[in-house]
Amino acid sequence: MQIILDCDPGHDDAFALIVASKFADVLGVTTVAGNAPLSLTTKNARIVLDLCGSSVPLHSGASRPLVAQPIHAAYVHGESGMDGAKLPEPSRPADGTDAVHFIIDTVRSNKGLWLVPTGPLTNIALALRTAPDLVDKIAGISIMGGGRFGNRTATAEFNIWCDPEAAAAVFDSGAKIIMSGLHLTHQIMATPKRIEMVRGAHKTVGPMLAGLLEFFSKMYKSLHDDFAGAPLHDVCAVLALTHPELFTASEKHVVVEIDGAHTRGMTVIDDRHVLSRTKANTRVLETIDADAAFAIIVDAIRACPQR
Ligand code: RIB
Ligand code: CA
Repeated sequence: MQIILDCDPGHDDAFALIVASKFADVLGVTTVAGNAPLSLTTKNARIVLDLCGSSVPLHSGASRPLVAQPIHAAYVHGESGMDGAKLPEPSRPADGTDAVHFIIDTVRSNKGLWLVPTGPLTNIALALRTAPDLVDKIAGISIMGGGRFGNRTATAEFNIWCDPEAAAAVFDSGAKIIMSGLHLTHQIMATPKRIEMVRGAHKTVGPMLAGLLEFFSKMYKSLHDDFAGAPLHDVCAVLALTHPELFTASEKHVVVEIDGAHTRGMTVIDDRHVLSRTKANTRVLETIDADAAFAIIVDAIRACPQR
């Protein structure tokens, strides 16, 4: 399973990178501004790739959305974008600053790969706009984003809300899409028991990752009235490809609202049973076997090289 992971680390992006490094053939990682400014999401990606012992190409991309004003999420991920642990300085610089052309060139020379965006969809939308032939050359796009409810607003999930114009272009592109929305990702939370599983999974990396999850969960629990821990949203977009047996899904038409006063950034999922409903363009993941998924995450952590 060849993939390009486009991310905005971000605590849960870090776990997506670790799982992808173990279970997928990662042809490259690209970064986008989202949880934190681009310089920080790129630095964090460099750090996590070191933890995984990965030397895959890393290219930074969009520092701001297509149209919307840049907004970050320090209130959830901290000022560094990945607060909560003393992490090693990155050992290498990024390989480039043109994620869009890295994506285009890599897709054209590796037909049938999956794009796996776990942040705002700016890089993906720009790549598809610049090279429309990509839609027929990729196997599809496995997105963490959207859902049947929001988190940044009542209707909009952060990744989509950050750049609704980009998200709309991706969902309208005609590419095969798998969507890990919030109604799914909230089923896999980093509970205290699971954090201890992470801590014990690796002599050096385990405690770092446990510290990240403790911070992430503390922030989430302080912002919600009933959360047992932080959801590992982004890992779902990777597991959807590497371990599809963990999920149930439905085929639905999804479109992104651009203009609504209360719904800008909403993924409008057509759940109607009317025969006249719009043809499905998205596999919407509905449930995940969270315990089995977490065991896989722990396996991936165990596979990190001893530092
Ligand atoms: O809404 C959750 C998404 O926003 C995740 O990708 C998380 O990393 C943040 O980017
Ligand atoms: Ca993310």
